[in-house]
Amino acid sequence: MRSKIPNTKTSIFTIMSRLSNEQGAINLAQGFPNFPSSPKLLSLVSKYVDQGYNQYAPMAGVQVLREKLSEKIASLYKYAPEPESEITITAGATQALFTAITAFVHMGDEVIVLEPCYDSYIPAIKLNGARPVSIPLNSPNYDIPWDKVKAAISDKTRMLIINTPHNPTGAIISKKDVKELEEIVSKHKILVLSDEVYEHITFETRAHESLLASDILRPYSLVCFSFGKVLHTTGWKLGYIVANKDLSDEFRKVHQFNVFSCNTPIQYAIAEFLDEKEYLELPSFFEAKRDLLLEALKSSRFNAIPASGTYFQLLDYSTISEEGDFDFAQRITREKKVASIPVSSFYSDLKDDKMIRLCFAKTDDTIKRAADILVNI
Ligand SMILES: Cc1ncc(COP(=O)(O)O)c(C=O)c1O
Repeated sequence: MRSKIPNTKTSIFTIMSRLSNEQGAINLAQGFPNFPSSPKLLSLVSKYVDQGYNQYAPMAGVQVLREKLSEKIASLYKYAPEPESEITITAGATQALFTAITAFVHMGDEVIVLEPCYDSYIPAIKLNGARPVSIPLNSPNYDIPWDKVKAAISDKTRMLIINTPHNPTGAIISKKDVKELEEIVSKHKILVLSDEVYEHITFETRAHESLLASDILRPYSLVCFSFGKVLHTTGWKLGYIVANKDLSDEFRKVHQFNVFSCNTPIQYAIAEFLDEKEYLELPSFFEAKRDLLLEALKSSRFNAIPASGTYFQLLDYSTISEEGDFDFAQRITREKKVASIPVSSFYSDLKDDKMIRLCFAKTDDTIKRAADILVNI
């Protein structure tokens, strides 16, 4: 059998979660909350199931949900996308990303990715016969090296993938970054696929800079979001993508044969639940968890630059061990019973900066128990 992506192996999230389960470890590896979603939202799902909303949703998503999303986006980013033609409900952000790449990236095209990056981007580019052009973010703050991005643009460049707030580093882009991007897009007319699944998780009152807020970027941007990250429901695999009508039309041509449509009762439930605006509490909710973790690790031998967003915190363990990060993360899971993700797995060349990623979307008790162990390593 000739694999289309021969170098792609089982994802690190599967590997570390499996090891964590086998070892009975505290799982700070995979990015999912270990606390329940809102009881009100859960009862709304039951309500819509019981009321018989159980057949196919419209291809682009339930209309009332798209209308609510348009209002939400307008209130946050001062731009109201047209619900009918500019918002498409997807089976999570992962499907939105894959479908967007498939819809726009041709065989032989180049797509610029900034590494470390979420693990689905590069396989999706390769499966479409295109070439990922990887640019490492500047360490230690993981800001974007715009000079290198500009130098990497060729006549084959079709798309640039941006992720802010950024997984795994917790970095966020600034207004200055948006200006740089505007300059590039105006000059080269390339598409930007913007992964903004952690839009509501930014700290110390820093604002999330959505590309949807830019008049210059909007005509070239596909911006994707995830309800899993906003509602603490990663298992529902529901999200959405926002793009102008022309881009959305092309996106939907692929979407209709990729999933056709997504879970109906949950779309109705979310539409009703969005009125609660619970997402506005997410920054302080997760900032308190980040601070709990960092405070508890203050006297540890790990070094941390506090995450500016997301529910991930990177820890530098270079003063503790010279092991590679994969070996270190596996050993700590086996011996100390705390599972993490080695950051090299977010680089195509497995660049090893002696960093592990912890997910702090966990109950305070779980964070404290994990920190009590880590502080003694
Ligand atoms: C940066 C980033 N993009 C996309 C996703 C996928 O989101 P979803 O679960 O909605 O597919 C994740 C999930 O961890 C993520 O961290």
